[in-house]
Amino acid sequence: MTDPKLRVLIPADKIQARIRELGEQISRDYPTGNLHMICILKGATFFMADLARAMTRGVFIDFMGISSYGKGKSSSGEVRVTKDLDISVEGANVLIVEDIVDSGVTLNYLMHLLDQRKPHSIRIAALLDKPERRLRPVHCAYVGFKIPDEFVVGYGLDYAEQYRNLDAICVLEETGAANAPAG
Ligand code: IMP
Ligand code: MG
Repeated sequence: MTDPKLRVLIPADKIQARIRELGEQISRDYPTGNLHMICILKGATFFMADLARAMTRGVFIDFMGISSYGKGKSSSGEVRVTKDLDISVEGANVLIVEDIVDSGVTLNYLMHLLDQRKPHSIRIAALLDKPERRLRPVHCAYVGFKIPDEFVVGYGLDYAEQYRNLDAICVLEETGAANAPAG
């Protein structure tokens, strides 16, 4: 896709190589026991699909819908569960699979919520981390890439539901963002 508003930050081959490393590392870290990979919709769907296939052990996969952002670029601060898990996580090792940790509001909330369901352990795998933006403490056991404080799209991440199907992570330049149609 050629779009003057987009600047490639992480090309597709780098994303794939890093995910293969993460899959091997995470598989080594969980030699036994059930592992439930929980994809946070919709942004983490591409990461989940590739990470699950990079795992060298069996996993359960499940999906959770959480909404904390409206159509713009900044968090509303409100977190809402829009789709709950299908499979119980009681006694299981839980790996939350998230696209990006920004303010940390979403994951901080989710960690507390899932902790009440008595899993054996909970860890987070986030493809991207913007540490400068943190408002709430969140520990990510696995991070694909630390990135600067810039708004990114692609590989699942959106701006107003656009750009998710780019195979690279791209910075959405300010001028373009202001002109992007909403919805
Ligand atoms: P947090 O609660 O502020 O950490 O926000 C987490 C959610 O905000 C992520 O799951 C994304 O859906 C969204 N988000 C945060 N930063 C970006 C970005 O740079 N591009 C696209 N979505 C983002
Ligand atoms: Mg989003």
